[in-house]
This record gives sequence, structure tokens and C-alpha cells, in this order.
Amino acid sequence: MSTAPRFLAPFDQGRVEPAESLLVIRPADAMGLSGFEAVTIEQGFSPTAKALEEAGFAVFPRAEGRYGMVMVNLTRFRAENLANIARASAMTDGLVLVNGAKTEGIESLLKMVKNITPVDVMSKAHGKIFSFEATPMPQEWLLAGEMARNKDGFMTAPGMFSFEKVDVGSTLLAPHLEGLKGRVADLGAGWGWLAAQALGPEVSEMVLFEAEQKAVEAAKLNLMDPRVRFEWADVLALPKQLPFDVVISNPPFHQSRAAEPSLGVGFIQAAAKLLKPKGRFLMVANRQLPYERALEGGFRKVEMLGQTNGFKLFEASSPKP
Ligand SMILES: C[S@@+](CC[C@H](N)C(=O)[O-])C[C@H]1O[C@@H](n2cnc3c(N)ncnc32)[C@H](O)[C@@H]1O
Repeated sequence: MSTAPRFLAPFDQGRVEPAESLLVIRPADAMGLSGFEAVTIEQGFSPTAKALEEAGFAVFPRAEGRYGMVMVNLTRFRAENLANIARASAMTDGLVLVNGAKTEGIESLLKMVKNITPVDVMSKAHGKIFSFEATPMPQEWLLAGEMARNKDGFMTAPGMFSFEKVDVGSTLLAPHLEGLKGRVADLGAGWGWLAAQALGPEVSEMVLFEAEQKAVEAAKLNLMDPRVRFEWADVLALPKQLPFDVVISNPPFHQSRAAEPSLGVGFIQAAAKLLKPKGRFLMVANRQLPYERALEGGFRKVEMLGQTNGFKLFEASSPKP
């Protein structure tokens, strides 16, 4: 659901005047922005960034500089939201707008900001939008979004998949990645744990495809090996590549809160297209997600390597042309 009605409400009701330039952090879509002058967008999620770019906006994975007004759209990650609010407040001398659904924690963030400075609040579309005059925010909010070493010794930051510790599904797939040879791709590589396990001595080249730019930056720190390449990309829209011997993946299963098996199906189809005729695809998935049909549609041979802890492990080989 677009958040346009909530975003536009303070302007439509004359509570906020448009500024000469607007930075919009993390919008999920164009949300009524086409009516505004000089809009810059910060969006690190490649599919959304591409769609906004195609709609004619200036989009950067991370914006710098100063703006007349900065708007923060909440994500599901509180630490990321706190950091974005603090950054926004440091990037303008004008108003900061914060837009979010109840499910994204807007109520508690509103309380925290209210303890620092007066805010103007509007409720709309199962959420709130509030504005305040830019003012210095606590340093720890800024630091909450920074990269740090996690329990497994890898650099990660809030907002990345399983940033505090390695995902159980990935740990189950890892033993099946020993001795891989040739060109290897990891689809939805995140901060790189799975790829690091697969990078044995016989891998000649490895490409990590990942949609979240911050995760790509973390993966670069976690895999400093000349054989590894990093692509900030949407796996569902990859151009033709030099084919791979092996593709590995722990595919995403949702973008919002609900499970979206079509994402994993798209990853399976992408793997089949990326592989050499005798190539292999190794994948882990939540047990309840229905991927068998997509695997059989894309590959001549499909084998279940194991089923444990709520996960299924598959090896699929010989992609269908
Ligand atoms: C289940 S996580 C696995 C991450 C990592 N491989 C691991 O094992 O920890 C799936 C990853 O896919 C990424 N992703 C989601 N949609 C994507 C897309 N369309 N294209 C590329 N990556 C995507 C997510 O950002 C996330 O990092």
C-alpha cells in the first residue's frame, strides 16, 4: 500500500510548506513525490531504487549534503530508524518529517523525539507522520545504525538480514558448500556469511548479488579476497552473465511482513538462467515454502539434501534451457 495519503496530508492541510529542496530517505514508492520540486531520494534497496530512478527521480543509495527539508520513512528496524532520524536532523536547517506505520514502531519513535523537541503529529492510514524543526539528536541514535562486528566476527549493521548472528538456514547449507569449483554466484548474499563458507581453494571467481546496498558494503569488508566481486543488484532483473558452475542461495522470503514465495521462485528461475548446462544450484529454504514445483520447472534433476530445524536443503542441477 502506498503511503502517499499519509505523506501528502500535512501539505494538503497547510501544516507543512514545501521547502526549496527535499531529501526523502527510504520511500517504498513514489508516494506522491512527483508534485514536489527538487526531490532527492535515498534508497539502498535496488529494486525500489531502480523503479524510482525510472520514474525520473534522482536516487542515491546514501545521500550527502544539505536540504531544505528531510523526510524519513520508517523501515522495520528501530536502530536504522533512529540513525536516519538523527542523520536527517543533521542534514537540514528546516523541518524533519517522519512517516511510518504503527507496525514500524512510529508511536515509540514519536515519544522519543517528543522528549527532545516539540513535534506536530498527524494520524493517517494506520500510522502517523510527524514533523519537527531540525535539532541535534543523541549521538547514540546515529551510532545505532553504524556497522559493527557481530557475534560471528562479521561486519553488519541493523537493517540487514540476520545482522546479529548468522541465520540458522545458512548454517545448515554451509556443510554442503565444501569443495566448490569454478565460478560461483551467491544470490541474495547479504553481508556474506554463506559466500565466505563457499569460498574454498578451488573457487576461481565468486560473485555476490545483493539488493541492499548497505549489506553489499558489509560483504566487501567481510570477504577481502581478489576472487570475489560484489554486485548491488536485483536478482529478479539480472542481465545475461558469463555462466556459473555453481549458484548458492538462501533466498529472501518476504519484503514486507507477509511471506512472499514468489520471491524465492524468482531466485530459482534466476539461478537456472545463470548456470552452465551442467551447473548446480544449492539452496536452503523454510520448510513451509513451496519451492519444489519451481525447482522441477527449472532443472532436470532435483534432490532434497536434507530437512531439519524447519528448513529444507535442495540441490538442483542441469538447468532446463
Ligand atoms: C534470507 S537473506 C540471506 C542472506 C545471506 N545469504 C545469509 O545467508 O545470511 C536474503 C537476502 O536477499 C536480499 N534480497 C532481497 N530481495 C532481493 C532481490 N530482489 N535481489 C537481490 N537480493 C535480494 C536481502 O537483502 C537479503 O540479504
